[in-house]
Amino acid sequence: MNNLIKTALKMVESGKGILAADESNPTCTKRFESLAIESTPTSRNAYRDLLFSAPDIEKYISGVILFNETFYQKDLSSQAFYPEFLSRKNILPGIKVDSGLELLDVYTKEQATKGLHDLEKKALQYYIDGARFAKWRAVYHIDESLPSQKSIDRNANDLADYASICQSSNLVPIVEPEVLMNGNHSIAKSYEVTSKVLHSVFKELSKRNIIFEAMILKPNMVLSGYNNNQQASIDEVAKWTVKCLKENVPSDVPGIAFLSGGQSDELATLHLNAMNQLQNPWKLTFSYGRALQSQALQIWAGNQNNILEAQNAFLELAKANSSASQGLL
Ligand code: 13P
Repeated sequence: MNNLIKTALKMVESGKGILAADESNPTCTKRFESLAIESTPTSRNAYRDLLFSAPDIEKYISGVILFNETFYQKDLSSQAFYPEFLSRKNILPGIKVDSGLELLDVYTKEQATKGLHDLEKKALQYYIDGARFAKWRAVYHIDESLPSQKSIDRNANDLADYASICQSSNLVPIVEPEVLMNGNHSIAKSYEVTSKVLHSVFKELSKRNIIFEAMILKPNMVLSGYNNNQQASIDEVAKWTVKCLKENVPSDVPGIAFLSGGQSDELATLHLNAMNQLQNPWKLTFSYGRALQSQALQIWAGNQNNILEAQNAFLELAKANSSASQGLL
């Protein structure tokens, strides 16, 4: 367990955060096609290579979450498999181990996460092949009557099963309960739902004797629904989010690494910075996908001549979020 605790601490080392580059092939294809980039194993490899080989990435990034395809691909210069390539840069290789979403309820259209049935076998193999942490994402929808108790219970149960399998397979689990911010709900509603969700998740993790010191929580920030025309201010978001976390997350958890969830790059960074100006018992950092990558992907646009410019855009955001994770902006 000591190694797991050390890994968890390293994932949230001061001034560093996690790059989520684990978009599944269908999600990656959607993002590529919206920019008229062809999505093939080769083009996805070229894009991920651009990110991971950005100069000095290791100053700001402690770990990278990979999708299975990338995990078994090689970097374009030294031809090392990515787990080895990243480890050489002192970056921890992580792996998305869930198999995406399925319908949980035909009436509410809520979703559950697939992938528990063969998780133990996969987790053991990923560890052998170089992974040091894993990620599992559960999603919750908000409206007047959602999330349902069924969704809250099922996802808490599955996240706890996943965390338990990871810890016994030598992988640090990133536990990701994502409350989606689509809709016109108020920030108070986001707070209420996120609280309920986190409460149920930690109750199940506790029942399963998960070692909190050897896990990382990856939650949503508590925001106004994206369609609400009264958006909470940056300070309000920081205050509601930290309040929600303090009420539900044990202080033994070493770090909380937020997802960006469709916020603009700028807001995701400023929210993180404002939270780090408050007193917190944990490291608060980032584990962003879109808020670190959107600009770089647009600039690259599938053209190898744009690599340097795309890398610079990515590094600038990584650097700004490194500062934000220390409240230094
Ligand atoms: P976003 O930051 O784009 O929300 O992605 C984070 C992530 O890993 C979702 O599972």
